[in-house]
Amino acid sequence: MRPGGPLEGSVPISGAKNSVLKLMAATTLAEGGYVLHNVPRILDVDWMGDLLTSMGMVVTPAGEGSLHIDHRPDLRPEAPYELVERMRASIVVMGPLLARYGRARVAMPGGDDFGPRPIDMHLRALEDLGATFEVAHGYIEARADHLVGARLLLEFPSVGATENALMAAVLAKGTTVIDNAAREPEIADLAAFLTRMGAQIEGAGSPTITIEGVDELNPVEHTVIPDRIEAATFLAAVGIAGGEVTLQGARADHMDMLIQKLGEMGMRISPDTDGIWAFAPRRLRSADVSTLPYPGLATDYKPLLVALLATADGVGIVTENLFSGRFRYIDELVRMGADIRTEGHHAVVRGRPLLSGAPVRAPDIRAGAALVVAALKAEGETEVFDAHHIDRGYDRFVDKLRSLGADVSSA
Ligand code: EPU
Repeated sequence: MRPGGPLEGSVPISGAKNSVLKLMAATTLAEGGYVLHNVPRILDVDWMGDLLTSMGMVVTPAGEGSLHIDHRPDLRPEAPYELVERMRASIVVMGPLLARYGRARVAMPGGDDFGPRPIDMHLRALEDLGATFEVAHGYIEARADHLVGARLLLEFPSVGATENALMAAVLAKGTTVIDNAAREPEIADLAAFLTRMGAQIEGAGSPTITIEGVDELNPVEHTVIPDRIEAATFLAAVGIAGGEVTLQGARADHMDMLIQKLGEMGMRISPDTDGIWAFAPRRLRSADVSTLPYPGLATDYKPLLVALLATADGVGIVTENLFSGRFRYIDELVRMGADIRTEGHHAVVRGRPLLSGAPVRAPDIRAGAALVVAALKAEGETEVFDAHHIDRGYDRFVDKLRSLGADVSSA
């Protein structure tokens, strides 16, 4: 990866990782054949496919960007350690498996680079719907002869807990109300998928979701929403390198707060018929940023914003409110010459006109992508090790960046 001139051109935005993984989990709710369109070609999708396959389902690619999932009879409602450990998102199979099969055996997820990420809210919500849990030998054994609708009050609008509760409640007896629900566009996409399957859901995308349980659901065909985090990554790339790009298929209405923030920093961004158009001058102005649950600035945008601020004009203060340990990539940016100081969950970023290319290590998906976009303004060559993390969440990232004129290649 070497720095270059401004980025120019048009790049297609793939389907949302954090939506498709949950839609795949939701196919455990009813037997039959499903087709998903706009599926990104990423490792996490392969791994969720491995998980469904290990339960006895058949997952096959069906043409460009589509996936066929066949939920056969005799499914084994079990998520083994090797797969859950690889991908925490696997935990979202628990709610639908309980609802459909009355039991689920799911390995306890371990910690990861974001610090401890407990699943207490997932379990509490399912317990309120009538499930019981036993933990033995590293596995959670969940049971529920029948789930019964209830009022669930989430302590925090957790994305995963909202999804698990939603997928359990669609087959529960009676009415469930999820209060303080997460409002991310991926939740609304999951609700749209479930509604198409026959579920009765109101309010998805708002803090209160009401679900009327039904007896049975049916398999469906569905197109995944575009990935707002991938779109944000290309906005960060153009913000750092300067230039003018179109993000084909991206949804500006899923990224209002980010677009407003980047506007404050000097970018011009507007929705157009094709997706999102964006222009960035050679250097942006700094701004303060603070992560919050949707519609606030997503924690997933933060490494990208820190990379932007590292090359912007001025000082910006970044505050992380969601994940305690999510600042590790900052040491890597500092190795690239960035001037960043962290204090608790704050980072003070003093922009520099140019960073300095260096060997760095990608600690996770988003931070890895942030190191790559930072390298667009780093003198000399930057080599990003452990780049396999990036492949978990980005579909043909290097090819797409190259198509905009970036000097980047993968080993
Ligand atoms: N939390 C708890 N208890 C719980 C659940 C969550 O304390 O039972 C805490 C977490 O520890 C964290 C906060 O609540 O501090 C938010 O967690 P949330 O449950 O909302 O996150 P998630 O469902 O585990 C999803 C995305 C993440 C994204 C977060 C926040 C998927 C597969 N993952 O995780 O995306 O950062 O929401 O928006 O949807 C990524 O794409 O790289 C990624 C990590």
